Amino acid sequence: MIVGIGCDHAGLEMKEEMLALLKDLGIEYKDFGTFSEQSVDYPDFGLRVSEAVSKGEVNRGLLICGTGIGMSIVANKFNGVRAALCHEPYSARMSRLHNDSNILVLGGRVTGKGLAREIARVWFTTDFEGGRHSKRLDKIKEIEEGRCLKEKG
Ligand code: RB5
Repeated sequence: MIVGIGCDHAGLEMKEEMLALLKDLGIEYKDFGTFSEQSVDYPDFGLRVSEAVSKGEVNRGLLICGTGIGMSIVANKFNGVRAALCHEPYSARMSRLHNDSNILVLGGRVTGKGLAREIARVWFTTDFEGGRHSKRLDKIKEIEEGRCLKEKG
């Protein structure tokens, strides 16, 4: 698995923590920046990672900004991206099991480092459950492609 990772200035410290975790887990990554504490615009970095996930250049993504909200908004604009902003491990686990989330978003100014490590560890080690959840992801794809949803009850 190759993970694309990116952040803005508010997520830089958390990105360093996540890079250390990826090394611990033996997961390969591509770092899309930012690389300094100079103020930048989160969409510029959100788009690099989201585009890489959308095009299949990386298998999953990890995005960090101050709250995680801006990065989530950006990421979920891209075809095939299912970004999950997580503040605790339960949501991270469920976002993999039920939603097959492919980008994890963290809030560098919201979540402590220890908790963030646990959230990310769970997210990277949980597989999609498939089954009834696949049908729901198909419906998301239909929405993405602008096809009309038929109500089947
Ligand atoms: C940067 O100040 C901050 O707005 C950004 O990191 C993020 O929280 C936006 O959603």
